[in-house]
Amino acid sequence: MNRSVDITVSGLCFHIAQQPILRDIDLHVPAGTVLALLGPSGCGKSTLLKLLAGLLQPTDGNIDFAGVRVAEARFSAPPEQRDLGMVFQDYALWPHMTVRENVAFPLKMRGLNAARRKEKTDAALERVGLDTLADRYPAALSGGQQQRVALARAVVAEPRILLFDEPLSNLARDLRESLSKEMSVLLRQLGTTAVYVTHDREEANTMADAIATLSAGQLVSVSTLNAE
Ligand SMILES: Nc1ncnc2c1ncn2[C@@H]1O[C@H](COP(=O)(O)OP(=O)(O)O)[C@@H](O)[C@H]1O
Ligand SMILES: [Mg+2]
Repeated sequence: MNRSVDITVSGLCFHIAQQPILRDIDLHVPAGTVLALLGPSGCGKSTLLKLLAGLLQPTDGNIDFAGVRVAEARFSAPPEQRDLGMVFQDYALWPHMTVRENVAFPLKMRGLNAARRKEKTDAALERVGLDTLADRYPAALSGGQQQRVALARAVVAEPRILLFDEPLSNLARDLRESLSKEMSVLLRQLGTTAVYVTHDREEANTMADAIATLSAGQLVSVSTLNAE
């Protein structure tokens, strides 16, 4: 079942203490496609992703998922009501939980019973090649393995939207290349609408169907990549 939705961003602005961080962003991400947000450090990529996630509230403009308003100036649905999966640069795993417990957590939050949790957790671990490491703690994993756990945790509940904030930036270059290819394949299999933040054009090319380039808080271009 493909539950992915389209994302529409209109006239989105975000200010901190009257200082504009994002200005008048218009974007459309068609259902089931991957949009890369590309730009140098400090241009506003993470801020835009946090607005999509519901971790920040817009100063002006709005965000719709599947035509339903999730954020505007005086209203912002909290992250847990947006049906999202997120992956961050620093993995953000819970250190006191095993790999399996980390991945199962979103299912627990959604109230699935133990049998369903096990079934879905096993499937997600297998998808990212971690089935043999399920009982380890994050501290006993490499950076690449930790990011696989974060990826499994993001997709396990089959959210409508996936958000990535420079997930490969802490990894060595060869690992970055191989994992970005794997993640791209996984995203195509899942068919989930995704926004993928990176400052690396090559990574954006590997991951995305379209690339939106940001500069100093403004959208400067959106280019669609050729389908293979
Ligand atoms: N809490 C904050 N207070 C003040 N300025 C901030 C805050 N968060 C982000 N900024 C500023 O907003 C701009 C965009 O930040 P960010 O979205 O993190 O950029 P990116 O992810 O592209 O590196 C930067 O200039 C940053 O300094
Ligand atoms: Mg950032």
